[in-house]
Amino acid sequence: MPRTIAVIHGPNLNMLGRREPEIYGAMTLAAIDQALHERAAATGLELHCIQSNHEGDLVDFIQTTGWLAHGIIINPGALTHYGLSLRDALAMLKAPIIEVHISNVYRREPFRHTSVVAPVATGQIAGLGWRGYLLALEWLIAEHGSV
Ligand code: DQA
Repeated sequence: MPRTIAVIHGPNLNMLGRREPEIYGAMTLAAIDQALHERAAATGLELHCIQSNHEGDLVDFIQTTGWLAHGIIINPGALTHYGLSLRDALAMLKAPIIEVHISNVYRREPFRHTSVVAPVATGQIAGLGWRGYLLALEWLIAEHGSV
């Protein structure tokens, strides 16, 4: 059985590439997932990606695919700041969880400075653009092995 990583994108991240590109850049979500898939394939890891605008869908995914995954990469979008059922779902997992934000949330509006996910995450990457996802994957590979 290959080791698996669950990649979770929250609300509005399906609009990457068109959404406030001066903040979030020009990469589409499909291109980001493709780059992650390529890197994962090179190490024998299997990636399971989801994007949803609905918190309950993300909770369902975490309880099934996420439950079995060896690592989680999650950009919860705005749910970062208030998504308590998302946080509770993540808190159940034993695998490492990396919280990723494309933008530097700490340089933005005050409501973005609080993450309800951060206390249940292993670590956080913010402000490094779409490559933050790739760096999260590199960390999981380095810390938790490939196949
Ligand atoms: C974001 C930051 C959040 O505050 C925002 O609601 C998003 C994207 C980021 O990747 O920078 O949707 O998580």
